[in-house]
Amino acid sequence: MSYKARKRLDHRERVVERRDKMLIRDRTSERATVEEVFDQTTRMVVFDMLNRGILYEVNGAISSGKEAKVYWAINKEGIDLAVKIYLTSSAEFKKGMVKYIEGDPRFKGVKRDTRSLMAVWAQKEFRNLREATDARVPVPKPVAVKSNVVVMEFIGRKGIAAPSLKDIPPEDPEQAYKLLVMYVKRLYRKAKLVHGDLSEYNIMMWKGKPLIFDLSQSVSIEHPMARFMLTRDLANLNRFFSRLNVNVIPIEKLEKLVVGK
Ligand SMILES: Nc1ncnc2c1ncn2[C@@H]1O[C@H](COP(=O)(O)OP(=O)(O)O)[C@@H](O)[C@H]1O
Ligand SMILES: [Mg+2]
Repeated sequence: MSYKARKRLDHRERVVERRDKMLIRDRTSERATVEEVFDQTTRMVVFDMLNRGILYEVNGAISSGKEAKVYWAINKEGIDLAVKIYLTSSAEFKKGMVKYIEGDPRFKGVKRDTRSLMAVWAQKEFRNLREATDARVPVPKPVAVKSNVVVMEFIGRKGIAAPSLKDIPPEDPEQAYKLLVMYVKRLYRKAKLVHGDLSEYNIMMWKGKPLIFDLSQSVSIEHPMARFMLTRDLANLNRFFSRLNVNVIPIEKLEKLVVGK
């Protein structure tokens, strides 16, 4: 066998081994368990990312939400990554998704079948992360997107995600509140986005500062529901931080501060 063929085979074996690992490694248990089998397309997308070197190893799930699962992965430099995979879509979720996409000028004329919608959703999260990053709003930095799979910076250490605000309240709530108000303002004015699901569940404390994540439902400020969503986001912040005895800015004033009118 030629050297080249040998190398190719080696590589294939390694990739297959890695793919198996992805299916059997479960960080939370001592025994290896068959944690999950992805559908064919998802497997192909992850496989392709392994082949292209975007991912080197995908470990067990760190979170299994209703629509998406988040996995801890590493790239070939050994850097931690988070892989968010959109897997299921209830009729209700589909209806909701269409509503978000329809009013957003960035996503005109997309198809409505489940697979296309999951892909648009992943694409949307990736784009929102990029636009937020460009506006200097702390979010996980986007790395790659394909079909229903989003790869982004891992926030945490060694596969353990940083705690969210709901798990551990910030040491200096006053400061965290101020920063978050500034981030929402930057998101609105510079990225021209409204998060839409901002709460203690989607904010982590990282290196002493708050970081916003889960931007899949974030919409353009031109979306007909943008203002409603902004008010709700700000009300969530006020509710959470007033419980921590922060002297929060009254909601009308806060809205004006963000929107600038
Ligand atoms: N970039 C990331 N780095 C580390 N952990 C993450 C990252 N993104 C998500 N997670 C973990 O996965 C959980 C769910 O992620 P999220 O994006 O909020 O998805 P969902 O749509 O299920 O709410 C988070 O609470 C966090 O623990
Ligand atoms: Mg979330």
